[in-house]
Amino acid sequence: MSERNGVLITLEGCDGCGKSTQAALLCERLAACGLPVGPSSAPGAVIREPGGTAAGEAVRDILLHGLEALAPWTETLLYAAARAELVEHVLLPELGAGRVLVLDRFIDSSLAYQGFARGLGIDAVLAVNAPGLRGLLPDLTIVLDVDPVVGLARAGNAPDRIEAEGLDLQRRVATGFAAVARRFPERVRLIDGFRDIDLVAASVRAAALEAVADAGLRLGG
Ligand code: TMP
Repeated sequence: MSERNGVLITLEGCDGCGKSTQAALLCERLAACGLPVGPSSAPGAVIREPGGTAAGEAVRDILLHGLEALAPWTETLLYAAARAELVEHVLLPELGAGRVLVLDRFIDSSLAYQGFARGLGIDAVLAVNAPGLRGLLPDLTIVLDVDPVVGLARAGNAPDRIEAEGLDLQRRVATGFAAVARRFPERVRLIDGFRDIDLVAASVRAAALEAVADAGLRLGG
């Protein structure tokens, strides 16, 4: 892995847990603290997974908007492929340049959805992702803990392929994220996402600022 001076913060949770809203709010708040947030090509922006590169966005389309059901390992390897592209072309160079990156999902989604909920095994899914991760793990992972019933209701009436699978899968995903939090307590924080949006944002911000301080980055204006 290349030298890194930046900070990698990931937001995770079931579908509809509010992480995309919280990721955008977090970027705004960190930028207001004078931190170099987001990739240098799009300062202040959240990076989403799968996506964040041209190839990653194309893979996202296959994964979420394709018509065919995918075998669990096909799904896993496609997420891992999009991730490898993002690590190589965006995350390693940007972290090397000292930027603070906020990701809307990363490796822990694969561990919870494919490893736990699809039953492939957290270790097995981590193992196939390892070469593409190149040793990179988040400094901080925030899992927004929300009742899957509430989350799925928020997904609305245009669900993607995974949301369309319904509540049973989302319940297993929630259990999967709890297992991931127990497995990696040094970097994963569960935050109650079923509160007023500003209260959730305050908890997210506090955890992120701790991670930034631990990484030794200075806060500006
Ligand atoms: P989202 O951008 O709306 O969160 O959609 C991404 C979907 O893909 C969501 O249902 C979670 C799922 N997903 C996985 O199953 N595994 C993964 O590794 C990632 C990144 C996402």
